[in-house]
Order: sequence, then structure tokens, then C-alpha cells
Amino acid sequence: MLNTAVRAAQLAGKIIIRNFEQSALSVEEKQKNDLVTNVDRECEQAVRDFILSKYPDHKFLGEEGGIQQAAQTDSDSAGKERRPVKGKSAPKSNGEYVWIVDPIDGTTNFVKGIPHVAVSIALQINGRTELGVIYDPLRDELFKALRGQGCELNSRRMRVSENSSLDGTVLATAFPHRKRELVTTYTKIFMRVFNECADIRRAGTASLDLAYVAAGRLDGYFELGLKPWDIAAGELMVREAGGIVTDFAGDTDYFNSGNIICGGAKVVRQIVSLAKEDAKSL
Ligand code: IPD
Ligand code: CA
Ligand code: CA
Repeated sequence: MLNTAVRAAQLAGKIIIRNFEQSALSVEEKQKNDLVTNVDRECEQAVRDFILSKYPDHKFLGEEGGIQQAAQTDSDSAGKERRPVKGKSAPKSNGEYVWIVDPIDGTTNFVKGIPHVAVSIALQINGRTELGVIYDPLRDELFKALRGQGCELNSRRMRVSENSSLDGTVLATAFPHRKRELVTTYTKIFMRVFNECADIRRAGTASLDLAYVAAGRLDGYFELGLKPWDIAAGELMVREAGGIVTDFAGDTDYFNSGNIICGGAKVVRQIVSLAKEDAKSL
């Protein structure tokens, strides 16, 4: 199944490369500051068709299409649209396989021609993430993780950086650009953390922020309001690289809240303690 995820990510990667900096892009705003292009949809369809052709019994949760399944009738309804099943969150039941996919993470970068985007693919079995693949097609960097078996960047083992405190660290974050009501709380937390670390990046692709933490390129990362497809592959990767992932209360409810802090254990603990008071209002 890891192979399937890798091949699906590479398929989408080819579509991204072919369309990068093309003027014929059709861009829509799904909601304020939330873009989707024809290429996001094309990538999602390619990934979904590839995965469901290998595993027709599995479910597929894509950012653009919600939860979908290869219709039981697929063989007798070739060419028909797959039918979305109600709801956008990954359901949990026995023996349930759900692929969680962000076809282009960093759509705003993609639209602006900023070469920092990724395809993110995770597989959850009964609600637990078993594998994660994040592919940066423009740098040809493939990050992959298997639960209990560590993680690799282009076949090199990844490990989070070990820091005893925030002093000297370089972190990643993102502004709550779609949830402006969180800006005041976020800014307070940002200031507290910024005062303790060396610097903070905002690169615009959550899955790569997570993958870079796993690779030790970044020492930590925090963001509010993420979705399952932004997080699923990357949070496994960080844990498999020896890091920890929490929400802003230091608990593990980040899939539900979308609020995430990750990095080496000591860095995460310090961010949590700096953020905890302000985060009570989240
Ligand atoms: C977004 C990016 C961005 C993060 C946003 C995400 P999208 O995903 O990962 O870095 O700050 O929260 O929604 O919309 O480009 O797939
Ligand atoms: Ca995303
Ligand atoms: Ca996306």
C-alpha cells in the first residue's frame, strides 16, 4: 500500500509540474481566501482513480471531493461519477480503510507560481494512520512514513532535531488567514514563542512544514485550524521521526481541533507552556 501511495503521489506530481506557472489556470474561491484550481481537481481525480482501482473497497477522503468510495456498481457503471458520501470527516469502524488526500497542499503558492507545494496522502485503518507520503514534485523530494517503521526522505532516514529549549531554534507557523477571529489569540501566542526562538518561517504548505520538522530542517511547527488532509501524513511522519505532536493544550486532540504543535519533545513542551493560557480561548 505504501507503493500505491507513492505512485499516486508521483502521478499527481506530474500533473502539478505540467501545469506549474501555466496561464490557463482556472481559479475559484471556495470560501474567503480558500482557493481551488482545475489542477487541484485533476490531481485529486488521478490519485483517487489510481488508489480505488487498486483497492475498490477502501474509502477516499479528498479535500476537494469529500468522502468517496468506488461505487459497488463501479464495474457496471464505468464512466459515471463516483458518488460522494455525506460528511467530510474520516469515519471509524472495524476493518475500515480510509485514504486521506490533499491533492495540492499549498494551492495559494501554486496559483502565485511560488515553487513550494506538495501532494499529501495518508492511509488510516480503523481511524489510525498507518502510512503517510508527502511528495514535493518541484524538488522531487519524497517523504514517506510507515507506522512503527520510521520514515525516509528519498531513502534517507529522517530524524527530528533535538533541542533542549527554543533558544536558537527555527520554527514554522501559518497565520489564521481563513479564521480571522483567531488572529488576536494567535498573535499573542506568536509573540511569546517568537521571543524565545531564533526565527519563524511561514512557507504556505502545512504538509511540508510537518515533513521538514520530521527531516530536522525545522525545529518545530505550530498552526491553528488545519484540516485532516493537511495533517494526516505529516503528523505520522513527525512521530516516526522521534518527535511529538500535540494540540495547544498539550493533548492529542489535534485531528478534531485542527490546532497543532510539533517538534522535538522539549521544544513542543515549551511552546505548549507558552501558549496554554491564551489557547484557553480557542
Ligand atoms: C493550506 C496550506 C497552508 C496552511 C493552510 C492550509 P491548501 O492548504 O497547507 O500552509 O496554512 O492552513 O489550508 O488550502 O493549500 O491545501
Ligand atoms: Ca492543505
Ligand atoms: Ca489543497
